[in-house]
Amino acid sequence: MKICNTIDEMRAARASRRRPPSRSHPPGVEQSNSEAFGLVPTMGALHQGHISLVRAARKECDLVAASLFVNPLQFGPNEDLAKYPRDFDRDRTMLEQEGVDVLFAPSVDEMYPAGAVTYVTVEGLSDRLCGRSRPGHFRGVTTVVAKLFNIVQPDVAFFGQKDAAQVAIIRRMVRDLNIPVQIVTCPIVREADGLAMSSRNAYLDSQQRKSALALYRSLMRVQAQFDQGERKAIKLMEAGQGAFAEEPSVRLDYLEIVDPETLDRVEDVSRTALVAVAAFVGNTRLIDNIVLSPA
Ligand code: PAJ
Repeated sequence: MKICNTIDEMRAARASRRRPPSRSHPPGVEQSNSEAFGLVPTMGALHQGHISLVRAARKECDLVAASLFVNPLQFGPNEDLAKYPRDFDRDRTMLEQEGVDVLFAPSVDEMYPAGAVTYVTVEGLSDRLCGRSRPGHFRGVTTVVAKLFNIVQPDVAFFGQKDAAQVAIIRRMVRDLNIPVQIVTCPIVREADGLAMSSRNAYLDSQQRKSALALYRSLMRVQAQFDQGERKAIKLMEAGQGAFAEEPSVRLDYLEIVDPETLDRVEDVSRTALVAVAAFVGNTRLIDNIVLSPA
């Protein structure tokens, strides 16, 4: 696995892995993704959720790059940037074992040299869900992801459904800015008891780890009501909120039912809808979601 710490190294690694123009390939005919260059962007502290993205990339693409960068721009002033778990050697080993070809792991100065004042903002969507409680968060995400796309120039990029709003916002950015990259979304990977895997689960003590199940439980209650035929968002949300009333140590940030593309709230689930939840377990903010699909 080639490790690139600078943008120049990454660009050189990408250039040396471009497929030569194929004479046997008629122009205008789509080449399959099996010859494509895939990118899995991460902030490290890798777990099986991240690894599922790498495996999807490995399956679909001929060459796979992963990026590892704890992006300061997407953390608020009182958030966990300083204590965010970092273990480069462990992450590198895991990626190597998964057959990743290139690891891009730049420093903060490399990504944001002094004087960097340009941002990418997906208006409107970036103020919804986590964007409401974390002002500036999605601007930080879209700015770094746009930079990663420019630096790595992947054909395909892989993101987790775990961060459903992030996926909707990145898809909109790619569409609006005509970025030539295909976005693939991979399912949420969960612990055996249902808790969505997250690098932030490492912050939880054993009591908090149990309480954290309130998020998944609330989503399962929404799903159960939905399965029984309830379609009114307000009723479905009430069902989900009940799980938090029983777990007072967990502070609900939001539980919302929205359109998965626009992130606008829906009143009735007549089409596919996203149920997204965020809650604080102690100081740790966790998120989770499910998708409701009317037959
Ligand atoms: P990070 O939280 O490290 O997540 C990297 C990728 O892994 C994201 O696409 C995320 O949705 C996915 N992921 C995390 N937990 C998952 C789970 N349990 N199941 C499936 N996928 C999961 O998301 C970020 O980093 C950053 O915002 C980033 C896109 C790298 C930009 O800085």
